[in-house]
Amino acid sequence: MKIEALKALLEDMTIEEKVGQTIQLSADFFSDQSEDITGPMNEMAMTEKKKYQVGSVLGLSGAKETIDLQKEFMEKNRQHIPLLFMADIIHGDHTIFPIPLGLGATWNPEAIKLTAEISAKEAAAQGLHVTFSPMVDLVRDPRWGRVMEATGEDKLLNKRYARAFVEGYQGEDLKNDLTKLAACVKHFAGYGAPRGGRDYNSVDLNENTLREHYLPAYQEGIDAGAKLVMTAFNTIDNIPATGNKGLMRDVLRDEMGFDGVLISDWGAIGELVPHGVAEDNRAAAKQAITAGVDIEMMSAAYSEHLVDLVKQDDSLATLLNESVWNILRLKNDLGLFEQPYRGADEETESQSVFSTDNKQAALTVAEQSIVLLENNGVLPLNKEDRIVLTGQRRDSNDILGAWSWKGDLSKTETLKEAMSKTVGSENLSVIDDATFLEGQYSFFMDDIRLADTVVVAIGESSEMSGEAASRTNIKLPENQLVLLRELKKLNKKVVAVLFNGRPLDLSDVIPLVDGLVEAWFPGTMGAQAITNVLFGKVNPSGKLPMSFPRSIGQIPLTYNEDSTGRPLTDEKRGEKYFSRYLDTENTALYPFGFGRSYTRFEYAGCTLSKQTMSADDVLTVSVTIKNTGEVEGLETVQLYIRDKVAEVVRPVKELIDFKQVTLTAGESKTVSFEITEAQLRYTHADNTVSSDAGTFLIGVGTDSRVSLSESFVLEKE
Ligand code: BGC
Repeated sequence: MKIEALKALLEDMTIEEKVGQTIQLSADFFSDQSEDITGPMNEMAMTEKKKYQVGSVLGLSGAKETIDLQKEFMEKNRQHIPLLFMADIIHGDHTIFPIPLGLGATWNPEAIKLTAEISAKEAAAQGLHVTFSPMVDLVRDPRWGRVMEATGEDKLLNKRYARAFVEGYQGEDLKNDLTKLAACVKHFAGYGAPRGGRDYNSVDLNENTLREHYLPAYQEGIDAGAKLVMTAFNTIDNIPATGNKGLMRDVLRDEMGFDGVLISDWGAIGELVPHGVAEDNRAAAKQAITAGVDIEMMSAAYSEHLVDLVKQDDSLATLLNESVWNILRLKNDLGLFEQPYRGADEETESQSVFSTDNKQAALTVAEQSIVLLENNGVLPLNKEDRIVLTGQRRDSNDILGAWSWKGDLSKTETLKEAMSKTVGSENLSVIDDATFLEGQYSFFMDDIRLADTVVVAIGESSEMSGEAASRTNIKLPENQLVLLRELKKLNKKVVAVLFNGRPLDLSDVIPLVDGLVEAWFPGTMGAQAITNVLFGKVNPSGKLPMSFPRSIGQIPLTYNEDSTGRPLTDEKRGEKYFSRYLDTENTALYPFGFGRSYTRFEYAGCTLSKQTMSADDVLTVSVTIKNTGEVEGLETVQLYIRDKVAEVVRPVKELIDFKQVTLTAGESKTVSFEITEAQLRYTHADNTVSSDAGTFLIGVGTDSRVSLSESFVLEKE
């Protein structure tokens, strides 16, 4: 629709119709007219008339379902304005990819872009227009269940992934490419930092940290063109984000340049009341529209009060117009006025959903997401080996992870099923973990005696992470530790495969196993991916996107912690008055960027093209990496830096670039990075972003423990 026509449409709308656009209802409001719906209809202050004025629906999918509703809706809507269909397509639609934390472990933005393209294609064919993804919240606390939905603790990694997701979902021509979805960057801002790791809890971030570490990934998603942003449940500066005018208007809109649709999180406008910053829903509605929230998701503040508020206050009428304009523009950007059904098509749906190609992509990405944590020479396994498979998760299809809405467990292979295709039943004995826990394995004595290796599948169920799934204990469930202790007594090689949605405290596990494979929740093809890694068809290459602590007491623990005045150096180890614990190390058990391979990579030298650079120079850092093992492998080469002296305290180390290189056995390659002044900038005390002249320490290595043994000087006039 031409912009003039869109403006004319807006002008023709009554206040009631305008407010309708700002309301989002869940699919069940439309799915049946039975009495069950009376409850929710009342709760949302809905009437039959108002229902056909709303702007968007969440959680409906299926080509037939969306086409039917759109048709009915447009007939009943006075101006025939199409609905927007939105849903949480987080790590796949029907074809489920690894959870985002697992995707983060690939260090492969291109792979993530592909998962977003496939997700969009499947979802668009089912009539969806918007996905509530990517979640780009930076995370530092594994107690928080939603770390599974994040891509990790590092700003650079998160930025690259944010862009990859948005580009993958939206493509280059959102209007005409009907296989695309509009992306929604969430949750603005700082939702990944709830106090104590408890979901929905308040957030206490200083402004410098917020700007320096947390905002950049949202900014990158916005710069990549994301059409929507979702507000967070939490507070920023003790004001709930959803009613925070300074955050939403001054920072998000004015500074960060976002001009799309701002949607509240589920019920978040209504939550301004229990937060204690609004007397009632009416005050909440006023606060949220003042803050610039365009769409209210699933609370009744706008629905009940906005018409009246706007009638009494012209300035609110202007804000309402702005919000409706944003929403109409989004509908127009998606081409809905011309093609209200957009990509919804039953035939395309049946072809694109869960196709062989999509599953192949899910397999490849799952393989790339797996992180090899320990290997005392036991992996890869041999196909001719005799293997005992046990553990609570040995035959579980609960491997898709939270937020896999359309993922079909009945189509998800278990580890037992995938392994039996590779090993052959005569070599694979599957033994119930209860057998070991109860010490009653005499019946299996022969299988155990003959076995070369015990593979034990353990970890969390998918319910244990995700939204509202915070934990204060991030060790394995006690019965699994008991199982590992029992297995240790068998004097067999033990390989543990972990399914989990968060970094775990694995300190009790390490002494009990010879091999440790972090599989996360690997998705639709996860069991096959794990099998391919276990048997060496695939050489693992995943690297942790989040530190794994030695103990829960270290949390929050990140590789890029701020410098202290009393840093614990090797020489000071054991001395008291330094920043340290009495009872454990400062370092992570498995640091950020860590992951083993079936081969070995040797790093030789690290050369800098110059020792001094000016602001318009490019400095090249080169390092030669040799595969000194027996098999081909992929290494993620990581470049870290430290700004030695700055205006504010800076991290002891920061990732500023990374590259992946594949090397055959014996092969060497030189990997080079180009550093420009832009990469040396940081947020100053007055919130401006720039670099300072001076010395930078630098190092290239296989994970974040790399020593920063080189240096260069940035010169400025
Ligand atoms: C979550 C959002 C999600 C929304 C809609 C909320 O509870 O916080 O991330 O997009 O529900 O399902």
